Amino acid sequence: MNTKPVFSKSRNSMWQEDKSDIEAHSSTQFVYNAHHSLALDMQRKRLPTFKYKSHIIYLLEKYQTLVLIGETGCGKSTQLPQYLLEAGWCADGKMIGITEPRRVAATSLANRVADERSCILGTEVGYSIRFDNYTDETTKIKYMTEGILLRELMSDPLLTSYSVIVIDEVHERTLLTDIIMGLLKKIIRKRKSLRIVVCSATVDAEQLRDFFNINATKDSTKDTAVILSVEGRLYPVDIFFVKEPVANYVTSVVETALKIHENEEPGDILTFLTGLDEVDQAVSLLSEHAKLVKEGKLKLLPLAMYGSLPNSEQLKVFWRAAKDTRKVIVATNIAETSITIPNIVYVIDCGFVKIPWYEAETQTNSLVIVPVSKASADQRAGRAGRVRTGRTYRLYTEEVYSELFDATPPEMQRSDLAPAILQLKALGIDNVLRFNFPSAPPSKNLLTGLELLYALGAIDSNGELTTPLGMTMAEMPLEPVLAKSLIVSGEMGCSEELSTILAMLQVQNVFIRPVGGQAAIKARVAHRNFEVEEGDLLTLLNVYTAYDKNKTPSWCQKQFLNHKALRRATEIRTQMHSMMKRLDIQLVSCNGNVQQILKCITAGLFPKAAYLHYTGVYKTIRGNRDLYIHPNSCLYTLQQPQWLLFCEVLQTNKTYVKDITVIQPEWLLELAPHFYEKTSLDPI
Ligand SMILES: Nc1ncnc2c1ncn2[C@@H]1O[C@H](COP(=O)(O)OP(=O)(O)OP(=O)(O)O)[C@@H](O)[C@H]1O
Ligand SMILES: [Mg+2]
Repeated sequence: MNTKPVFSKSRNSMWQEDKSDIEAHSSTQFVYNAHHSLALDMQRKRLPTFKYKSHIIYLLEKYQTLVLIGETGCGKSTQLPQYLLEAGWCADGKMIGITEPRRVAATSLANRVADERSCILGTEVGYSIRFDNYTDETTKIKYMTEGILLRELMSDPLLTSYSVIVIDEVHERTLLTDIIMGLLKKIIRKRKSLRIVVCSATVDAEQLRDFFNINATKDSTKDTAVILSVEGRLYPVDIFFVKEPVANYVTSVVETALKIHENEEPGDILTFLTGLDEVDQAVSLLSEHAKLVKEGKLKLLPLAMYGSLPNSEQLKVFWRAAKDTRKVIVATNIAETSITIPNIVYVIDCGFVKIPWYEAETQTNSLVIVPVSKASADQRAGRAGRVRTGRTYRLYTEEVYSELFDATPPEMQRSDLAPAILQLKALGIDNVLRFNFPSAPPSKNLLTGLELLYALGAIDSNGELTTPLGMTMAEMPLEPVLAKSLIVSGEMGCSEELSTILAMLQVQNVFIRPVGGQAAIKARVAHRNFEVEEGDLLTLLNVYTAYDKNKTPSWCQKQFLNHKALRRATEIRTQMHSMMKRLDIQLVSCNGNVQQILKCITAGLFPKAAYLHYTGVYKTIRGNRDLYIHPNSCLYTLQQPQWLLFCEVLQTNKTYVKDITVIQPEWLLELAPHFYEKTSLDPI
């Protein structure tokens, strides 16, 4: 096996040029956007969607739902809402709403469209994401995350302030996309004036059209949904595959980026890896090399991009680098769809993605690293070729590509459904088993979701949301098990501590773990000062408490802690406190009563319990799934506890559990007698 990736150009380069005036391989020294200086208005007119403008408007007059299919970068997200505005769809004071699966898409698209319309962001064009609303009473085009639309549905079930809802990036098939599609299908029956546009890559177009077609007759002239395919893309992207499989995709990504930096023309690089740890590792390797770049040569600026970064940090990747600098953005699949990072010329795709996978038998939601689907690989490649020609380097062979699945299965079919059920119940959907989902989830997943919510006390034996517990849980932007812990922490007298722990769990990358060398040893020693045998959650509490007394970047550096992450945890904690105040959860401290904190964690996390089997492996109490303590857990090197709770499961070569808390088994009986009978706890 080759350690250094060697590429060959794909025989059938995926995208062909559709414009005669662009040279695919300009032989000039610089890769440049020939149209960069064109006025934004001219740039808009060059986009493939422009030719379809009047057709789109005509179809929306005639049909209630339009399924719009088009290649990456053709103008779906930025142009369509403007065409609708220009055609008068906001004439009566109503808005065009566009939902995006990710915050960064909502904010960056709104920014771009505001620029194109020469308006101040937050006026005619605005966005709304959690904790951040840039709209006013004049807003006509509103980009938002799916979660925001769901919340608006709670107060305005027929979405009367909108004339058109555009559901963007439907091919991602997130849990929320599917829920929103199900709800919109109900609404269009009641509000005939509402129009829906579903934007997707080519996968599943017909299925989506059939889902939204509410014509009950056999007469196809009465169909209410139609498909429109937009042909063409702006600039070509050449695809290269490795000739032989690579041994380690993280180091291969770094090597490929460095090779491009040395040999290829200027232009920024966007690379895809699966998760935070890999991104951090690649960024630190690239930073080492960046220091070695000689005076006078093109500099290298590595930047990380992942979901748990605060929005302002995520937006940094859009900033233009200095003329003498090449940006290398190392991203998770957060950067896979929607976004245009203007100067990207090269894309490096590791070929894998980390996705949640739910197993109803053991009620465990794992993160698994799997090969990307063809649709994902095409989306990744499609981040190039948007403002100039591009190149994509795939760290897998062409043969492997041809065997990839066409699309990743919808999240709805592989997820823990408890959070979704809770949302639907709060929206007044009583019988979730009969709810019309675009792709029905496995019924056992629905049933275990209902069972979990019942065990947590969020729904009663009739399946109805309880008040105030269930209602409060539905209002919290937290996983139900964590929401439950936080709610009871007020009564149990440890809500100060619980809110700190939960805020720390939201930021993930608190510890800096250098790879190898003296630094790695020093970090281990520093981290040990915070570690306790009660597990990772209490360790996080210790870290925060110590940080709260010091708070300086230099203190964090000495302790090998991530200052930005801790600052973010502080912000989240403050937001959590105002949410708790609104929800009447009192803020109290237990003043170091560790057992009380552990019991409070158990009161919510009890479904995620495991015990040490005599074979030395952990097993879930329900379903007997084998589990191992993750090497990053503070318990990895300590004496194995008999009983534990975990927050996260990560599936790689083994099934690892992370964010662990050590508990006593009798607490499970005391705090969740309905979930665990004594017999199920006995054999151990
Ligand atoms: N921030 C930006 N800077 C420069 N050009 C941009 C920017 N945003 C969009 N564009 C231009 O507008 C085009 C259309 O972008 P848009 O996001 O509407 O495409 P899309 O069809 O939604 O793509 P995708 O399927 O990848 O979401 C891009 O290809 C690019 O040429
Ligand atoms: Mg788009």
